[in-house]
Amino acid sequence: MTTGKSSSKEMSSIKVGLLGLGVVGGGTWKVLQKNAEEIARRAGRRIEITAVAVRDVEKARKLLGDADVHITTDGLEIARDPGIDIVVELIGGETTALEWVMEAIRQGKHVVTANKAMLAVHGNQIFDAAGEHGVMVAFEAAVAGGIPIIKAMREGLTANRIEWIAGIINGTTNFILSEMQSRGLPFNTVLAEAQRLGYAEADPTFDIEGVDAAHKLTLLASLAFGIPVQFDKACIEGIAKLEAEDIQHAARLGYRIKLLGITRRRDDGIELRVHPTLIRMGSPLANVEGAMNAVLVHGDVVGPTLYYGQGAGEMPTASAVVADLVDVARLDSADPEHRVPHLAFQPDAVKDIPILSADDIETAHYLRLRVEDRPGVLADISRILADAQISIGSMIQEPVQPSEASIIFLLHRAREGAVREAIRQIQNLPFVRSEVTRLRVEGSI
Ligand code: NDP
Ligand code: HSE
Repeated sequence: MTTGKSSSKEMSSIKVGLLGLGVVGGGTWKVLQKNAEEIARRAGRRIEITAVAVRDVEKARKLLGDADVHITTDGLEIARDPGIDIVVELIGGETTALEWVMEAIRQGKHVVTANKAMLAVHGNQIFDAAGEHGVMVAFEAAVAGGIPIIKAMREGLTANRIEWIAGIINGTTNFILSEMQSRGLPFNTVLAEAQRLGYAEADPTFDIEGVDAAHKLTLLASLAFGIPVQFDKACIEGIAKLEAEDIQHAARLGYRIKLLGITRRRDDGIELRVHPTLIRMGSPLANVEGAMNAVLVHGDVVGPTLYYGQGAGEMPTASAVVADLVDVARLDSADPEHRVPHLAFQPDAVKDIPILSADDIETAHYLRLRVEDRPGVLADISRILADAQISIGSMIQEPVQPSEASIIFLLHRAREGAVREAIRQIQNLPFVRSEVTRLRVEGSI
């Protein structure tokens, strides 16, 4: 078809400076080589990496072969290079990455990044600067790897008032939980495998402690509710303390345990929380295994929508980075006023709705404790729960030794503050022989 416009072959290529050539950076390079023609047909012009910043120049040269790419160890050189149109930040971390990204923005360059840690903590500053300098900051790869969830939130769901989001948004922990459950492998063995496969963060405690998922959830909450990025207000609990025993009890009760990120709009504010969660076996999230991610978004008009795909790793994440590059290449010449807003809402319409404190979150709970097996034990525990207005849904008691029993309660929804105080009182009862294990339950997700 002839359009009268210049074809992708005739238009000059858009020049990209890549900061980082590790798992995601290397994948991005490979995808741009592999699908160059197809990508140019979509973008309207070629996307060409002309410079790369790394720490180990020799290693980078081996990957790039004899390609005409400048290699440096100083990302500022790339951020300031007038020949570069887009800076892709894939080094990770919050210090050097932020410095290089801010400089690129000041120099009028568009930025593509997969760095959820940087955006969740410094996003407001970055998006403000981008607005001021009329450039785009694209971050599809920062949440749920290869799943186009940012695109869906910013564009596909704009008719909706988003009610809640629940997601498995950390591949490493989902991989660990899946392998522990299905193959009975020890935690550290599975974590080492996740690191080998390139899923884990440079500091894997970010994965294990739920911090990475909270970074991503913070971004999703901003896109869903039109609020500033507020990672510091997220309630975060990881999987480090999760015991195999609880995974087994949950299964017997008809539940799976998943590390979920949940953000929900309530009349008095917004819940923003990451924690291991019991969800029913039939839930669409219950059977998401390995490094796969899934995000359930509930809009008032569309109802529930589900997004599923590979949440980490070289090629899935590179797929998202390159999609951003195509978007930026297409919109490069558009009037900044007419581009999709960074956080889905027009910057002057972003509202400071309060994020609720941990005590104000409402969920159902699973409690497990070991007690002396004697009369009055259940009555005393029930009294504490009743006084706190916490209703018991079901209870299982099992002997563990001749004189001890393990008790599991499923409690109905209650304020976390009330549950926390009840647990404190139960813990102090003279017949309680273990720490009280507390997990949240979301029966309707
Ligand atoms: P890697 O550790 O594999 O790669 C990091 C790259 O950045 C390396 O090429 C490294 O160079 C370079 N680098 C780091 N610090 C510097 C520095 N100070 N100066 C110059 N170069 C530097 O990380 P990933 O590719 O896994 O992750 C990159 C980003 O993508 C992170 O923000 C991460 O959170 C995010 N992400 C990762 C996903 C994944 O599955 N891995 C998925 C989604 C997002 P050298 O090799 O020479 O040391
Ligand atoms: N460490 C992250 C994960 C990488 O395991 O999900 C993808 O963001």
